[in-house]
Amino acid sequence: MKKENIYRRIALGTVQFGQVYGVANQRGQVQRSEVFDILKYAQEQGIELLDTASAYGESENVLGEFLAQEKNAFQIVSKLPANSQANASFVQQSILDSLHQLNVSRLYGYLIHQFEDFEKCPDVVSASLQKLKEEKRVEKIGFSLYHPSELEFLWKHGVPFDLLQIPYSILDQRFELYLKDLKKSGTEVHARSLFLQGAVFLDPKDLKGNLQKAQTQIQQLHDFSSREKLSIQAMCLNFVLLNPCIDKVIIGVDGLDQLKKNLNDVLSISMVEKTYPSLLKLRIDDERIVVPKNWN
Ligand SMILES: NC(=O)c1ccc[n+]([C@@H]2O[C@H](COP(=O)([O-])OP(=O)(O)OC[C@H]3O[C@@H](n4cnc5c(N)ncnc54)[C@H](OP(=O)(O)O)[C@@H]3O)[C@@H](O)[C@H]2O)c1
Repeated sequence: MKKENIYRRIALGTVQFGQVYGVANQRGQVQRSEVFDILKYAQEQGIELLDTASAYGESENVLGEFLAQEKNAFQIVSKLPANSQANASFVQQSILDSLHQLNVSRLYGYLIHQFEDFEKCPDVVSASLQKLKEEKRVEKIGFSLYHPSELEFLWKHGVPFDLLQIPYSILDQRFELYLKDLKKSGTEVHARSLFLQGAVFLDPKDLKGNLQKAQTQIQQLHDFSSREKLSIQAMCLNFVLLNPCIDKVIIGVDGLDQLKKNLNDVLSISMVEKTYPSLLKLRIDDERIVVPKNWN
């Protein structure tokens, strides 16, 4: 597979640019100057999309400063802030705030970030998102989900959407069953948490809380890595890239070094293909273990 085609399917997550984030983070929030270096490098390598949200602290503002100088450098996906009483004017004002922070006139995607809020007033929020599309403030509307049950709710109630962001990785394949139907329906699918917020890089002995229950699978991943001479990031990234139903793979990095390593190692996709059947077996369906908010 040509490098350009692989890199075009990679998107950059940006929560790390707006706040301290990640279960293994030793570096804190990425400094503004390093964020600019990361974005410049990503742009040069052919990465086309950034994933952000108004809830990611300074992220939209930092990206906005870069985009003010590098107009249209990236497609942007942002997300509606949490609000249990979301109404039409809240949705309208929220996207205007994001467009202002980001220094752009329209977004590629705008997603519901808190599914619980949507469940409380689905019709209002859904109609408001549709209106944003008609006003050409956004090209694609959709949801960022945590649980397959949320997708079932959307299908059951016939809620229209163009774009879905889901957690999908070697350890978390809970959405696997739905991917073919999503593809058939023409939905664009973005996968995140390929590194389980960085937990896959940790020594299994250092895992805490419910994550300790993933020790066996993470140890097996490390054993595969040394036996197959493939880095953890090479296996995690390519496992998801090998799934034709996934359009974009969102990765988070805490530094330019991590991005360079990840983009270099993703090129060993053909070697990962051989281990794919074994990696499929490392899945964990217990949401206490694979859903970060349950990690306590
Ligand atoms: N609900 C939502 O919509 C939602 C939820 C979560 C994330 N997201 C999006 O997804 C993006 C990615 O976040 P994620 O939670 O999914 O994280 P992830 O991609 O699973 O993991 C990212 C973390 O992995 C570690 N890492 C990455 N490359 C590495 C390397 N080469 N070597 C060692 N460590 C490395 C870094 O953490 P350390 O340096 O700390 O190890 C980094 O912060 C976010 O920026 C955000 O845009 C969205």
